[in-house]
Amino acid sequence: MIVQLCGMSGAGKSTLATLVKGRLQQHGIKVEVIDGDDYREVLCKDLGFSRKDRCENIRRLGFVAGRLAAHGVVVIISAINPYKEVREEIAKTYEDVKTVFVDCAVDELINRDTKGLYRKALLPEGHPDRIGNLTGINDPFDIPASPDLYINTALQEVEESAGRLFYFITSELAGSLFFFKKQHAQRYS
Ligand code: ADX
Repeated sequence: MIVQLCGMSGAGKSTLATLVKGRLQQHGIKVEVIDGDDYREVLCKDLGFSRKDRCENIRRLGFVAGRLAAHGVVVIISAINPYKEVREEIAKTYEDVKTVFVDCAVDELINRDTKGLYRKALLPEGHPDRIGNLTGINDPFDIPASPDLYINTALQEVEESAGRLFYFITSELAGSLFFFKKQHAQRYS
């Protein structure tokens, strides 16, 4: 299974992915987190934040995810993943892809601003430190119309959000196993 998270910087995607990874591992489930920040330091080092580069970034992450998922690993892609078009492309290209929207109100993101990016994006035009393409401020984010799971980290405690994601993934895994068992039972029992 591939779980493609999407949501703005600071919404809590990496925190949730890491927490849920730990819980799944405790239950003996093989899981890998593909984090946008990490991959941008290695495999996606050449990419910036234009639409073209963000799309290419997600395609590369999706490719790695597809390879791992084919071996039964649960893969959580944790990236802003702002464009509907590429999210749909990933969902069509690979098997068993779930889209999870990690939402958070912009006011709350500006308040958190763990990386100082929102402060920089909100600087006046012409300021040397201003960044001009921060998702949600001066760059687009296509809100998913019907994600497989919706999480709002401004309204929920991190424990609750992690619990929801964990429950979602384990329910999906159980559903697939049940289907698989039923098919085999019909054939062999
Ligand atoms: S994506 O849009 O291509 O999916 P990705 O998740 O890989 O983005 O990278 C986002 C991370 O890059 C952010 O969490 C933040 O740390 C950093 N970053 C730096 N500049 C920007 C920017 N202009 N917009 C968004 N993220 C940025």
